[in-house]
Amino acid sequence: MNYTINDLLSLYEDANFYDIEFSKRSIDINFFKEYCTNFSGKILEIACGTGRITNEIAKVASNVEGRDISTSMINKAKQNYKEIPFSVEDMLSTTGVFDLIFCATNAFQHILDNQLVLKAFKNIKLALDSKGKFLLDIQNPNEKKLKRNLNIPYKYKDFLYKGEKIEAYINGHFNNESSIYYFNIDYRKKGISFKNKWVAMRMFTHKEILKLISNSGFKVDECYGCYSKSKYTSNSDKQIFVLSKV
Ligand SMILES: C[S@@+](CC[C@H](N)C(=O)[O-])C[C@H]1O[C@@H](n2cnc3c(N)ncnc32)[C@H](O)[C@@H]1O
Repeated sequence: MNYTINDLLSLYEDANFYDIEFSKRSIDINFFKEYCTNFSGKILEIACGTGRITNEIAKVASNVEGRDISTSMINKAKQNYKEIPFSVEDMLSTTGVFDLIFCATNAFQHILDNQLVLKAFKNIKLALDSKGKFLLDIQNPNEKKLKRNLNIPYKYKDFLYKGEKIEAYINGHFNNESSIYYFNIDYRKKGISFKNKWVAMRMFTHKEILKLISNSGFKVDECYGCYSKSKYTSNSDKQIFVLSKV
């Protein structure tokens, strides 16, 4: 299966819809906010989407900007939060010098290929000050969930859109060889499908991501298993790394 940059861009083309879909998500905010409170250095959120987290960080730290590969998402972020500098940039080619760079909400899993992961790490490292930190928030693959019978779509969430309840169903499959989870999100209003999204996400086992981290010249200061900062275990939902340069 070939998932291209155009597939990725069309996934995030409807930034207004994304913005509403994710507007109530708050589970991750405190983790990043706490980390950034009173942070005096320069902070960059890569793959910032419509600025949901960037905006919260900007309330507690003075020097914050956001970047994303999607022009639609960045235009929406600019419209949402006029005081924050947002710009279009591919996280594979991050530029500038920052004291903290973070990548939230599994966005890093949009990088599907190991060579590109290494490229992203290399440029993030170059864009960090010598004492800089990189916070990386990705899923911990759950074998049971990935291998369930996805011929039967399952409901994964609902939310309100323009006053109407929307139910989102997922249907897809996990490719063992590439470790990519391909799935379709079917959005239904009163049981009737009105929108589809086609997603590909790389799943990184703990062992794989640790190897990529160390091959990129980063070291792990901390690894949490959830946003409330419990230590990572193999059963954790998340792998949230605090990385620094070796
Ligand atoms: C699930 S959204 C998360 C957005 C934001 N972090 C949030 O929590 O609301 C993933 C974002 O990653 C961005 N993205 C994917 N690949 C990217 C890349 N190579 N460089 C920069 N942004 C990328 C997408 O455009 C999208 O806005």
